[in-house]
Amino acid sequence: MKVLITGSNGQLGSEIKELAFEYENLECVFKDLPELDICDAEVLNTFIIDQHINVVINCAGYTSVDKAEENPEIAEQVNAEGVLNLVNALEKVDGKLIHISTDYVFDGNHSQPYKESDPVSPVGVYGETKRAGELAVLNRSIDGIVIRTSWLYSGYGNNFVKTMLRLGNDKESIQVVSDQIGTPTYAKDLAKTCLNILSDSGSTNISKKGSLYHYSNEGVTSWYDFASVIMEISNIDCKIIPIETKDYPTQARRPMYSVLDKSKIKSDFKVTIPHWRDSLTNCIKKINHNT
Ligand SMILES: NC(=O)c1ccc[n+]([C@@H]2O[C@H](COP(=O)([O-])OP(=O)(O)OC[C@H]3O[C@@H](n4cnc5c(N)ncnc54)[C@H](OP(=O)(O)O)[C@@H]3O)[C@@H](O)[C@H]2O)c1
Repeated sequence: MKVLITGSNGQLGSEIKELAFEYENLECVFKDLPELDICDAEVLNTFIIDQHINVVINCAGYTSVDKAEENPEIAEQVNAEGVLNLVNALEKVDGKLIHISTDYVFDGNHSQPYKESDPVSPVGVYGETKRAGELAVLNRSIDGIVIRTSWLYSGYGNNFVKTMLRLGNDKESIQVVSDQIGTPTYAKDLAKTCLNILSDSGSTNISKKGSLYHYSNEGVTSWYDFASVIMEISNIDCKIIPIETKDYPTQARRPMYSVLDKSKIKSDFKVTIPHWRDSLTNCIKKINHNT
């Protein structure tokens, strides 16, 4: 089975690249900007047809939540129209799609984990455009699944864990919001899940039937607690000071609560999900090993 990974230089794409060699039944092709732009429908069509692509894992996205408020057109092009281009191209070759979406499709007013069946209500441009991307997959007849994830981090790219490690080594104290609740996701765990879904029973696992799934690591935390554990695991002597969201203004609003219920992906795909603390320990070990 030939699998195209779009946006392959990002956090998730890079983790898939690192693991893909372990999956002998998957022939993976990795592409990112500028070589393969999912917003260029013609180039995308030609590539998917000429390269005989059977499945796409779409890791491409406009992921800057704050910048999306200033650049809604670009966010819409990548997160919504780009996904539609992929769906259109895959329809022509009877191909399948794993598309990645976000907890930001929810407004965060819940107090218990969000299920796939819960109504969405994005609070910003990023969430709105990601929701449009979901609908591009869900409203069409191609065999595709959408996996929503949250608080993604990795040894690759820029993310909260790497920022905290950098600031923790430079500063005596850092203020971190303590009233936003969610679950971190190590991109390596999600990468493994995507590859296992494809590898375990060929792409027959991906059908219109189950379409929408939630995936994060296990457990629940706040950004404050997450930062404190990053310092603890790394033996960094930096004081983490809890502050409220209202004292840390950002361009885009964030959902205050975005814990995802993962029962469906665990039962449909027999996925075992590590706790966020264990995955964080593994990621920090790897970052330290590589530096
Ligand atoms: N990061 C999070 O906390 C988070 C949370 C929930 C869900 N997600 C979702 O998870 C997925 C993967 O996230 P990530 O953190 O791995 O993202 P990332 O690190 O920002 O990687 C996205 C990649 O897509 C590329 N890209 C942007 N526009 C493109 C286009 N038009 N055509 C092809 N590639 C394009 C980017 O290139 P440039 O860097 O050159 O722009 C980048 O290499 C995304 O769909 C994201 O929305 C992320």
